[in-house]
Amino acid sequence: MVNIAILGFGTVGSGVYEVVTKNKEVITRKAGMEINIKYVLDLREFPDHDVNKVLTHNVEDILNDESVQVVVEVMGGVDVPYKFVKAALEKEKHVVTSNKALVAAKGPELLHIAKQKNVNFLFEASVGGGIPILRSMNRSLTADVILEVMGILNGTTNYILTEMTENGLAFDDVLKTAQELGYAEKDPTADVEGYDACRKIAILSSLAYGKTANFEEILTEGITKITKIDISYAKKCKSVIKLVGVSKNTPEGISAFVAPMLLPKEHPLSNVNGSFNAIFVKGNMVGDVMFYGRGAGSLPTASAVVSDVVAAVRHKHLHVDVDWTTEKMEILSNDHVKVKALVRIAGGEEQKQKALSVFEGGEIVTVEEAKDEFAVITAIETEKTLAEKIVQLSKDMEVRNRIRMEVSE
Ligand code: HSE
Repeated sequence: MVNIAILGFGTVGSGVYEVVTKNKEVITRKAGMEINIKYVLDLREFPDHDVNKVLTHNVEDILNDESVQVVVEVMGGVDVPYKFVKAALEKEKHVVTSNKALVAAKGPELLHIAKQKNVNFLFEASVGGGIPILRSMNRSLTADVILEVMGILNGTTNYILTEMTENGLAFDDVLKTAQELGYAEKDPTADVEGYDACRKIAILSSLAYGKTANFEEILTEGITKITKIDISYAKKCKSVIKLVGVSKNTPEGISAFVAPMLLPKEHPLSNVNGSFNAIFVKGNMVGDVMFYGRGAGSLPTASAVVSDVVAAVRHKHLHVDVDWTTEKMEILSNDHVKVKALVRIAGGEEQKQKALSVFEGGEIVTVEEAKDEFAVITAIETEKTLAEKIVQLSKDMEVRNRIRMEVSE
């Protein structure tokens, strides 16, 4: 038998408790021994739940108990979990977390401590919820140079964009419903502004290219400016708008960004709807590989957490290396990144001619729902040139929005 402790009994923590309890038989078989939840750390009491029998309010109970071999951190935040996780690793306990903010900020340092202490720091659930993407990258896609990772990495925003597309609803209205249904957080900033997806693409890039991607250097745009009119243009262009995280390994260097993009209906990510996530990886030998599944939610996320617990138990006396060093990854300035965009501009014939003279090779699109404007689908430009041209046009006309489009090379 192996004793584990769960730090946090929120959405994911209670899911971990449920998975371990309900799937005891299969988990025991896969791990080679029974997994016993010896402690759950939380500030609250749960008088009506079995968990109360193993509840503690003091992390020291866990850290000082030598019989606890695996610590599961599912608290959220960075500073407090960092302190607890670091202390647990230093006490030679394996640590499993679903906390992408912690992994993106402190991943390489915690991996380094784990290696020194001959234990494992595992974080499958931090990206893509229940989708087994990180282990696949670390253990399966090891014969390839990874050329590209592109994903729908946030369930909340994908749910919002799907509802806007399928039911013609406005962003604010869908967000409100999503909050009422408990899909979106009360403070939805991290999701709708793209910060959550940014940390996830930083983790994926670090694992793909073996160095540390600083998430603060990744251009990040959320979906708060996407309107019903943008959705109408997307439909006219036989495309859908998706919030995607992209990182590319090009001869010039590595580029990365998170932004809403127009994806043509044939694109493999365009049919990923609702709160589902999908991650598309391109290797130089294997070609395209895609992973799809539930990127959020108590049980899917807990399933990934518990699979890491099983992995830790299987490798109780062995540190499994992760190709993610502390060396800083140089991320290309987005100025050089090639993009194409749909640029919405207020006005009529006169403005169209002017816009086409600036966006040479561009194509005009109009929609019934907005007769006082048009859009230009630009030719392929660099981000820098696109931004300069928009500034130039904004001097004598109103540029209403700009949405990037997929550029396949
Ligand atoms: N808020 C995240 C999402 C949860 O909506 O995808 C999973 O990381």
